[in-house]
Amino acid sequence: RKKVILDVDTGVDDALAIMLAVTSGQLDILGISTVSGNVSLDQATLNTCKILELLGVSGQIPVFRGADKPLVRDTVFEHRVHGSDGIGGALRDMTVTKQAEAERAEDFIIRQVLAHSGEVTLIMTAPLTNLARALHKCPELTQHAAEVIVMGGVVQGFGNITPTAEYNMYVDPEAAKLVLAAGFPQLTLVGLDVTRRALLSAEDIAKLRIPAVREYVEQSTADYRTRYFERNGVQACALHDPLAVGVALNREFVNVQKYYVDVETRSELCDGQTVCDFQNRLNKPANAGVCLEVDAPAFLECFINSLNSLNQE
Ligand code: BDR
Ligand code: CA
Repeated sequence: RKKVILDVDTGVDDALAIMLAVTSGQLDILGISTVSGNVSLDQATLNTCKILELLGVSGQIPVFRGADKPLVRDTVFEHRVHGSDGIGGALRDMTVTKQAEAERAEDFIIRQVLAHSGEVTLIMTAPLTNLARALHKCPELTQHAAEVIVMGGVVQGFGNITPTAEYNMYVDPEAAKLVLAAGFPQLTLVGLDVTRRALLSAEDIAKLRIPAVREYVEQSTADYRTRYFERNGVQACALHDPLAVGVALNREFVNVQKYYVDVETRSELCDGQTVCDFQNRLNKPANAGVCLEVDAPAFLECFINSLNSLNQE
């Protein structure tokens, strides 16, 4: 099984990404690190613990707290999309016993990546602050990670937080710039170009066979789907973060092209924009694999089948 670390700001779709990663049975999840993003660090950590308890795996997967704000900027929460608690109020009454470990997220990431050199895939579904901090402490991390898969950016379409920027890139563009420039040999960007096409509808949710899972997904995505409909005219919601896990599970879900990509950090209108040099005008070597197409039905099938296979013993 592929060794992975998930880095999340749990978030409706981060929660679904965790559920896919756990239920797939194909990933050895070394741990989950949390960061400030959609919600505060505390809330993201609490939500992550709740999801692991819902799945019955809280004893097996440790959680590590990371940065409580971006590298240099202020926090930008997304309560309009994810609800005041980040997961649409779905597990409001759940009491949680699980707690985060004492080790800091960046130290955990460094320790695991060095201990299993060439084996660990980092799946990042949040602002990239934790990885940037890890790189600051240990620049040689780039030579030891198997792959970094980032849900973030958009290279051909419009943004989802500003006209030009995707949320994760916008919230901590300095961190994103650092990660892109760090020199990871395998860095894959799963951006809105593809995640906007991986949609979960009410009909899909009806295919979830385990009542607790179906009810959770139904409830947690309800407002998210309504909001997506208001903006995009489609009765569904985008599986942004789960698709990053999907790429770790099966690369065939996406078509990836290598390009030089950078992030804008000094613009009034375009901070957080991911700029992809399609025609190599800057004459720089490619630093990222950019997902440009997705086999959405195949990915959706994998998502539903995985969630239906949750072991409930
Ligand atoms: C990304 O932003 C967050 O709101 C989601 O959790 C996802 O990681 C999509 O742009
Ligand atoms: Ca996220």
